[in-house]
Amino acid sequence: MDSRDEAPKGTKYMTFETVEDVGRNPTDNPTMGDIINERLARRDVMRGMLAVSAMGALLGSTGVLTARRAEAAAGKASFSFPEVEHGVDERHHVAQGYDADVLIRWGDPVLPGAPKFDPMNQSAEAQAKQFGYNNDYVGYIPLPLGSNTPDHGLLVVNHEYTDEEVMFPGVGKEQQKAKFDKITKTHVEIEIAAHGGSVIEIRKVNGKWTYDANSKYNRRITGETEFAIHGPAAGHALMKTNYDPSGTKVRGMLNNCAGGVTPWGTWLSCEENVNGYFWGPEENTHPNAKLMKRYGIPGGWYNWGVHFERFDVTKEPNESNRFGWVVEIDPTDPTSTPKKRTALGRMKHEACNLAIMEDNTVVAYMGDDERFEYVYKFVAAKKYDPSNRAANMDLLDEGTLYVAKFAADGTVTWLPLVQGQNGLTAEAGFPDQATVLINARGAADILGATKMDRPEDVEVNHQTHRVYVALTNNSRRKAEQKDEANPRAENQWGQIVEIIPADGKNHAAATATWKMLVRAGNPSDQAVGAAFHPATSENGWFSCPDNLATDSRGRLWVTTDQGEAWSKVSGSADGLWAVETEGEMRGYSRMFYRNPVGAELCGPCFAPDDRSLFLAVQHPATDGVDLWKPFGRLSSFEDPATRWPDFQPNMPPRPSILAITKQDGGVIGL
Ligand code: FEO
Ligand code: CA
Ligand code: CA
Repeated sequence: MDSRDEAPKGTKYMTFETVEDVGRNPTDNPTMGDIINERLARRDVMRGMLAVSAMGALLGSTGVLTARRAEAAAGKASFSFPEVEHGVDERHHVAQGYDADVLIRWGDPVLPGAPKFDPMNQSAEAQAKQFGYNNDYVGYIPLPLGSNTPDHGLLVVNHEYTDEEVMFPGVGKEQQKAKFDKITKTHVEIEIAAHGGSVIEIRKVNGKWTYDANSKYNRRITGETEFAIHGPAAGHALMKTNYDPSGTKVRGMLNNCAGGVTPWGTWLSCEENVNGYFWGPEENTHPNAKLMKRYGIPGGWYNWGVHFERFDVTKEPNESNRFGWVVEIDPTDPTSTPKKRTALGRMKHEACNLAIMEDNTVVAYMGDDERFEYVYKFVAAKKYDPSNRAANMDLLDEGTLYVAKFAADGTVTWLPLVQGQNGLTAEAGFPDQATVLINARGAADILGATKMDRPEDVEVNHQTHRVYVALTNNSRRKAEQKDEANPRAENQWGQIVEIIPADGKNHAAATATWKMLVRAGNPSDQAVGAAFHPATSENGWFSCPDNLATDSRGRLWVTTDQGEAWSKVSGSADGLWAVETEGEMRGYSRMFYRNPVGAELCGPCFAPDDRSLFLAVQHPATDGVDLWKPFGRLSSFEDPATRWPDFQPNMPPRPSILAITKQDGGVIGL
């Protein structure tokens, strides 16, 4: 999600800033600008990157390599698909030799009794049985559980948020900017039902994927589904509401962005921009106003609080503390109660990806997606038991949360967020561990963590044990705030940082090292300061990395979310690129897939044999379509920039999951 850049002015309840990544970090924690003179000391660690960036600087651009040399160098890459070109139009494009088929769309049936999708007469009841809006994270869990079956499994999908202007007839324009003048309680009820997630059973038959609308596994989770609150913050005073005086149960998960799957077959779904759902006056006088402000609450992106008291902070001030968590769901049991895992801290969680060490220690990597926020990891207290699923089901309730400090000498220090240690005292506002976790941002401020350029996905490369952090952009970083991990002021393009665990694979250690993989943006424009492998073509570079996946060959796949800035930061629609992480081609990138206009690309997710790849096309026809010359205006339900994927009159654009296969049945990207 990277939209909603302007606050509606003059609205009674919400005249404050509403962009999700405005940057609310009030501390003066070092951004490493003050230690940038240590740059030379990092020479050894940065050697790999300097080789690439120095080449880039010398050559000026990949285009300066002779075409033959570039082609010869690119020929050494491990992927060989024909590259998709930068561009933008109404359709999606995948590399030649591949098929990209729609598996499921917004409104398709998930549960028995789901009515046929009728966008002119949508209801909350229908929506709660149909595939939700804005598919984001996609995870594949093979069936039978514990197997590596590549052609039969459960697909788990997050439904992050809703775009009223292209969902509902007669709404006209983005409702936040229109002060919600057209949004009724019925609309809100449909929106709440369109949030959450879906579980569907899928099969590959004769090389093509289908889902079973009648599967016993299918499930819809919405903003009304009951969740249990688990971990140290369960039952804390800050978690209690009128609906739940025990502080142990909550209705719904909201703004679930990316996530992860566990080796014990559960789905981790991450609540991101939850501030946007809460409503209240600009002048917040509640005793916990400081805590709320640190999380941008109330955000007022939706007017749900007008119709439902729990979203109004003046009526139910603690409800917002019950959102912003990593959620764990057992997709094999549709009757199971999903759990909010408070031990993993509260933030704008982008994703949560696990590394399982040789001794079965479980480590979860996470990013807090807002400008100047932090990268975290969680080390579970108990070990994973491969032979006892039940013993793993609450493993994420107990352990230590750490936040990262990226130093100029190439080290990463993981700082523990433990009450009573390192200044996290009652006097400082942290009387207990629950408060540390509910206000993880405030605790990390005290520890002096490194302020990053919007941490998105943090992905573990299971072949090399290295960890990749997508930092999507931060146009508000000032020159004096630059540091080595966030090296550009007014960074509109983002970068990918690689974390190398201690001893190569000790994810639980208190320290690690880091290197830059790529600095995104156009490498042929010196002012951008991008750095890819010089053999990267004019289509091979990207801006604003967001979601990451690694395949079983250890190659990194990167989707982008340029938001409304697409025309400025690349001139191309969002897409998927494959990036080399090792050897002489490290930092070489090639475009594999391109989105329809106005869409963000999420997923990506490989089946275990790498012969299928699932992508989530989010909010087609919305972001920056007024800047696309053939359209030149904002979209509405009646007049969208694209009617992807159906291209039928009267059918609005529909967020959808694509299943990508190679026409010869082979491995993706070879
Ligand atoms: Fe929902 Fe950080 O993207
Ligand atoms: Ca995003
Ligand atoms: Ca994202």
